[in-house]
Amino acid sequence: MKCFFRNLIANNLHTCAVLFREVPRNLKGKKHSSQLWLTRQLQDPYVEKAKRENYRCRSAYKLLEINERFKILQPGHIVIDCGAAPGSWTQVAVKATNANAVQKDAGGIVIGIDKQPLYPIENATLLGGMDFTAAESQNELLKILNGKKADVILSDMAPNATGVRDLDHENIIQLAYSALRFALQITKGNGVFVCKLWDGGKSQQFEKDLIRFYKYVKCIRPEATRDESTEKFLVARGFKGIKSTSSSTT
Ligand SMILES: C[S@@+](CC[C@H](N)C(=O)[O-])C[C@H]1O[C@@H](n2cnc3c(N)ncnc32)[C@H](O)[C@@H]1O
Repeated sequence: MKCFFRNLIANNLHTCAVLFREVPRNLKGKKHSSQLWLTRQLQDPYVEKAKRENYRCRSAYKLLEINERFKILQPGHIVIDCGAAPGSWTQVAVKATNANAVQKDAGGIVIGIDKQPLYPIENATLLGGMDFTAAESQNELLKILNGKKADVILSDMAPNATGVRDLDHENIIQLAYSALRFALQITKGNGVFVCKLWDGGKSQQFEKDLIRFYKYVKCIRPEATRDESTEKFLVARGFKGIKSTSSSTT
């Protein structure tokens, strides 16, 4: 019996931390906010899972759930990942689009961009240290696309949170519109746009703007989104093009 339990624990060390709700030690001298962050990280099953499955962070499970539900990423797709650091969405996109040429299907192209440095991910093109909202960054993306249009534009971009809910909402909305304006220029017919928002007063208008350009717009709060977060994702599918609609977005 003892042996059975010893083996069970040895084979499931990663889950044990979660089962026993590990509490971090050596917190002395750390700020209260850092203590909370560390405790939460250690108790978070998605952090554990990401480590085990070699994703750079827990956010991977948000895109995996979105993709499971809406099947937005297909082999051969061209994907732009805005706000890509540290890189877990890019990792998911590389696999799902076959950019790593593991399957016989067509190989996709995945391009990630972030203000933060991006450490290489095999079979992805990464633009680290670049502000997506800057014209030069978007020109760089266009140069890489070389006249091709994208199937999927993802934006998990988030500003540094100030803790002031309205201000954080305003800042993320600005990023979301920047991603949408770019998506309108470079998305293939029937393409997809996925965008993160922190909910607030302008979410509804943003959703209405999406409905002008995409046939189907759904809002999803993935399982991996933390309870205390106002985060939600808008998944817009079936890009209609911009010819038949007026193109003004805020
Ligand atoms: C939640 S993280 C993205 C996590 C990423 N999806 C992943 O799975 O690894 C949000 C990212 O948005 C980036 N970001 C915020 N504003 C940006 C901007 N103007 N241009 C590019 N990236 C930006 C941040 O640097 C941060 O890395």
